[in-house]
Formats: sequence, C-alpha cells, structure tokens
Amino acid sequence: MTHTSINGGRLLRRLETFNEIGALPGGGNCRLALSDEDRQGRDLLVTWMKELGLAVSVDAIGNIFGLRAGAESLDPVMVGSHIDTVGTGGRYDGLYGVLAGLEALESLNDAGATTRRPVALAAFTNEEGSRFAPFALGSLVHVGALSLDDAYAIKGIDGASVGDELRRIGYAGAARPGAIKAHAYFELHIEQGPILEDEGLSIGAVEGVQGLSWSELTIEGQSGHAGATPMRLRHDAAYVAAEIAVCVRRIAREFGGYQVGTVGRLELQPGLVNVIAGRATMTVDLRNIDEPLLQDAEARLATFVAELAAREGVSVKTRSLARFAPVIFPETMVSMVQEVAQARGLSSRRLPSGAGHDAQMMARVCPSGMIFVPSVGGLSHNVREYTVPKDLEAGANVLLGLIERLAR
Ligand code: GLV
Ligand code: MN
Ligand code: MN
Repeated sequence: MTHTSINGGRLLRRLETFNEIGALPGGGNCRLALSDEDRQGRDLLVTWMKELGLAVSVDAIGNIFGLRAGAESLDPVMVGSHIDTVGTGGRYDGLYGVLAGLEALESLNDAGATTRRPVALAAFTNEEGSRFAPFALGSLVHVGALSLDDAYAIKGIDGASVGDELRRIGYAGAARPGAIKAHAYFELHIEQGPILEDEGLSIGAVEGVQGLSWSELTIEGQSGHAGATPMRLRHDAAYVAAEIAVCVRRIAREFGGYQVGTVGRLELQPGLVNVIAGRATMTVDLRNIDEPLLQDAEARLATFVAELAAREGVSVKTRSLARFAPVIFPETMVSMVQEVAQARGLSSRRLPSGAGHDAQMMARVCPSGMIFVPSVGGLSHNVREYTVPKDLEAGANVLLGLIERLAR
C-alpha cells in the first residue's frame, strides 16, 4: 500500500529558519510566551499558513489556527502544539509539532488530496508556563477551563500581565476562544525523556499525561548580620528553603516509580554574602501518573513545611500555580498511533508523558492523543535538545497518516 509522505527536507528547512528567532548560543532558543521573539515566531507562522492557503484565525487568548477546508463542512480534525519555549529551550519542544502539522498539510496540497473533514493546525499560547503560570494557558482557555478575564489578569515573573502583553504584540485576536470545535486532536512532540532512544524505537504512542502540582512558596524569616547573629537566634529563610528542596528530593526518591520533584526557582533576599536571608521565594513542581500518590506527595511536603516553619520561627505562604490530575487518552487514539506507525514500517511502543502538553487540556473536549519521537540523551528544556532528522521525518509521516485516517 502506498502512502502520501511528507517532505523531510522542507520540514527541516522550516525548523531551521524558524529557530533563527530567539536563537541562543549553544543551539537552543528563547521565545518566552508573549515576548517580542514569540511575536516574530507568530508572524512567521501566520505567513507560512497563508502561503499554504489556510484560513487563519487568531482568538482572544492569541491561539493561532490555520484551517484547510474539507469536502464537507464538518468539525475539523485538529493537530498542533506550541511555538513558545522556556527561557533555555531547545529547537523542537512544541515547534516540531506545529511545523510538522504545517508540513503534513502542504503534503496534502502537493498530492492534490481532498479530505472529507477540514483539518485545523493549532499553535496554542503559552504552553510552557515559564513566564506565565499555569502552563497550557491557551488550550485551557480554548476548552473553557479558564475564563478570558482570569487569563488576562495573570502576571508573569517580570510583572507584566497576559492581557497587556497580548495586546502589545498584536495577538489579542478577534475570534472567540473555543469557536473551532475539534472532531479529534493529535499532538506530535519530542519525547523529552530517554525511553524511545534506549529501546531503539521510532514512535511513542502516548497513553496519557502525568498529574502535575506547581506551587510557589514564600518564606519570611528575618535578615540579620551573618557574623554577629548567634545560630540559635536565626530565622534564616535560605536554610528553610534548602531544607524544603532536600525534602522534595527525598519524597521523589522514597515514592519511586513515576514520582518526580523539582525546585526550579529559588530567590533569596537581600541576596548578599554577609546578610542572613530574610525572605526566600521558591517553586516546587511535583508530578506523578497516579493521582492518590501525587496527593500523598503534596501532603507529605505540606506537613514537613509546617513543622519546619514552626521550628525555625519563619512563616511560609504557599500559592498554587497549577494543579492538574493525570489524563488518560482514549484507547482508540493510542492504538491508532501504533497502527499508523506499523503501516509505515515504523517500530513503536506505548508510554506515558512526563511533560505537560496542550493535548491533556484538549482531552477534556474531544478524543485526543499524542505521538512521541526520540530525544537524544532524553534531553529537553535544554539548548542541546536534539532529535535526529530520520525520527523527525518519521513522526511527521505518522501525523500525516493520522490526519488522513481521521479526516477521510
Ligand atoms: C510544560 O510543558 C511542562 O511539562 O513543564
Ligand atoms: Mn512542549
Ligand atoms: Mn516544554
């Protein structure tokens, strides 16, 4: 059986051109959500969508959609991901899924193919959440889980608000979020972990996305003289923060399995060599595929923090930045990925996703699924993130196969 195939060279060239925007020394990218670099990327994507003849719309939270018409006016099959990055992002996290979707649509154009359903290519706003929490902001608003007003009011780590920044870069669009209802959603993404590479496989059929708990802790102690203050009189916010970081690590180690824990941001004030820190601000990221275990981890940490704060005479305020339960994708969507991979002679396995994705939000409103391709060294959220061209091409061909199957 012959298949329509994507043009691998064209996909790689587009990735290269796009990644000139926000390029970092060492090979990665910084396109933080709603920054000038994000705007440049959006402009380029819209230009490319229009060159393909897609009908482009931008909704009020800045999600960009390019629609390829179908023979019938049915709900479209949607594919996509995001083009924003973390501050020290790689070249493929998010962008690959969007540009592979674009490539799949151009390949359909080249083949003169008409699908029964329309196909929508989506680039969701602020998937990363590095600048504005929670992550997956655009898809959350799209599915109606977060109101536009609440989303606009969110302040970033630099103090700017989502609403102001969207207007500043010209991407507070006219379309109503959620106006495009997807028949089904598939997101192609790099694995960002080591499993596929370790096992020498091409394709991951993602079974679900693990649950996630993000919080910001603000520890108020008392600043003082680093030489003259006896240890027994200290209320040292830096020490308390360090104990919390160690506890996060201990919980992950003791729980084992899929439990992970990260302290990704830690700021001390006043931050001087000879002054006891009076305040510490830190973030904690806990994740597990099992919701009761994730709740256990949260409770263990909260108990530890309360006891530590009492012992050290400091106050700790905890603010939730994001909390999402694990998501299981429908069995039909998972097996469809393996079937399409097999039909194209590609090896695959099922696996869960450690990272968060727009697909986990889309799963609330339509059958959703994900395709993974290997990440060299399992590295991601790192400028050295890399996936070999052969795997990038294979993943895009599976995405095209899934589009053809769902849209026919
Ligand atoms: C978001 O992409 C995350 O998993 O941190
Ligand atoms: Mn991503
Ligand atoms: Mn990411």
